[in-house]
Formats: sequence, C-alpha cells, structure tokens
Amino acid sequence: MTDASLRTPDAAADSGGDGTPLLELVDVGKHFAGITAITGASLALYPGRVMGLVGNNGAGKSTLVRIVSGVQQPDEGHVAWQGEPVRLRNPRQARGLGIDTVYQELALADDLDATANIFLNREISRGWGPFRVTSSKRMRREAAALFEKFAIQVPASGTEVRQMSGGQRQGVAIARALLGGSKVLLLDEPTAALGVEESGHVEDLVLRLRDHGVAILLVSHSVDQLLKLCDDLCVLRRGRMVGVYSRRDLTGSDVVSLIVGADAS
Ligand SMILES: Nc1ncnc2c1ncn2[C@@H]1O[C@H](COP(=O)(O)OP(=O)(O)O)[C@@H](O)[C@H]1O
Ligand SMILES: [Mg+2]
Repeated sequence: MTDASLRTPDAAADSGGDGTPLLELVDVGKHFAGITAITGASLALYPGRVMGLVGNNGAGKSTLVRIVSGVQQPDEGHVAWQGEPVRLRNPRQARGLGIDTVYQELALADDLDATANIFLNREISRGWGPFRVTSSKRMRREAAALFEKFAIQVPASGTEVRQMSGGQRQGVAIARALLGGSKVLLLDEPTAALGVEESGHVEDLVLRLRDHGVAILLVSHSVDQLLKLCDDLCVLRRGRMVGVYSRRDLTGSDVVSLIVGADAS
C-alpha cells in the first residue's frame, strides 16, 4: 500500500458491494459533554460482505456499534437503511429491521438449552387461548436445521448452555439472531475470550454467514483475524475515522500503522 492510499482512503468506490448498501453511516458523530467519541464516520455494509472495525481503546468502536444497533443516536450525520435515512431509536427498532448485535458478554439464559435460548420470547405455539401450547418438537427441529445449515456444532436440546464452551455459546447467540431474520450482524470481539481452536470455529462461522448473504460488522483486535475474514476494513483513531480500506490493498503491517497512526513509531 502506498502512502497516498493511507491518506486518501476510498470508501465508496472500492466497497465492492453492488448497488445500494443494506446499511450506511453517513458522516456520523457522537459527543458526550465536550468529548468526541466519534466523528466523521462513514461506512457501508453490503449483503455477503464483512467489514472489520479496528482501532485502539478509546478509538470509538463501541460507540459506532451502539449507533448501528440503535442503543445510541448520532448527533451528527445520519444512518440509512436500504438507501433511506432512518432513525434507529432503540435496539428493538434496529432488530425489527434485521440489525442484530452479538455482544462480548453474551445475553444467554444459562439454565436453558440451545433451542430454548434461540426461541426465547418468540416461542412457536399452536392452539388458541387456554389451549395454546408451545410446540417444542417443532422448535427443536427448526433449531437443529438452523445449526446444521450453518454447521454450528451444538446440541440443540438437553444441554444447558452454561455447560457449553465459549465458541458454542457464540454459535447459539448468532443462531438466535439468524432465527430472528438478521440481515446485518454486529460482532463485538467474538473470539476475545476463546482459545485458538474455538476461535477457528467462530471464524469459519463468520465466513459461512457471509456466504449466506449476511452483512457483517466485525470488531476485532486480531490483525490476522481481520485479514482472514474481512473484505473491507474501517479504521478509527481517537474518535476519528481514518478511512475504509479494501482488504486486498492491505498487509498486516499496513493495518498496524493505520491503527497507531503513520507518524507513530
Ligand atoms: N457515555 C459516554 N460518556 C462519556 N464519554 C464516552 C461515553 N462513551 C464513550 N465515551 C468516550 O468516547 C471515546 C470512544 O469510546 P469507545 O467508543 O468506547 O471506544 P472503543 O470501543 O474503541 O474503545 C472514549 O474516549 C470514551 O471515553
Ligand atoms: Mg469498546
């Protein structure tokens, strides 16, 4: 990569996506009592593409994720969904559109099995009124089919998720989002707490999600992982967006210098 491309990242022209992005941030900013958490952030997420989000602590990654997931609202710029400006007022509204977040601290019900977790609060039932019964057989079948489709290696039923490994829990959390019709998945350091082998499983899952047309925003500190999984890389530094780069223009050391700043030594 040349120095020129370091200074003049080309987000739009080389995003590789066809047509309208699913989700777009346009010059988004967020400030807290004089602190700029993020400013000038523009990026586009396309079906079947993985966008990496990198930057040191305090760079603004979590703020950006919170804006995309509807937890916080930007005070500069705007968010567009399928080409139309949209206000994401809360996570529920974002989820309604198909934007889901899998946080580091997974919100799973430990004492329930995988099927119960992915159907939590949206149980399938049959019958009516007092005769309404949840159809556990059908839920188990659908859960198993979903795990099979994405090659998620977890027992669908009979095992509490508390007994599962970190990677399996990640799989359950992701399956839960997929079942809800997720089109955009925000993954906040999905492998931070995992060992090498487990991380490998989760990375493979990210690629399968991509192959099934999910748009992914992946926060990661692992340069190797970013190079392995991402099509594009959005770099933040101290609350500013440095740029969006195409993966194929980057080496590992490019990524490191973009994160720390070209002038740092
Ligand atoms: N609610 C908040 N109130 C005040 N400052 C905040 C708040 N959220 C984030 N910040 C500040 O904004 C900057 C970016 O934070 P954050 O988005 O958490 O960065 P990252 O996730 O990349 O570490 C930091 O300086 C942080 O202290
Ligand atoms: Mg953070």
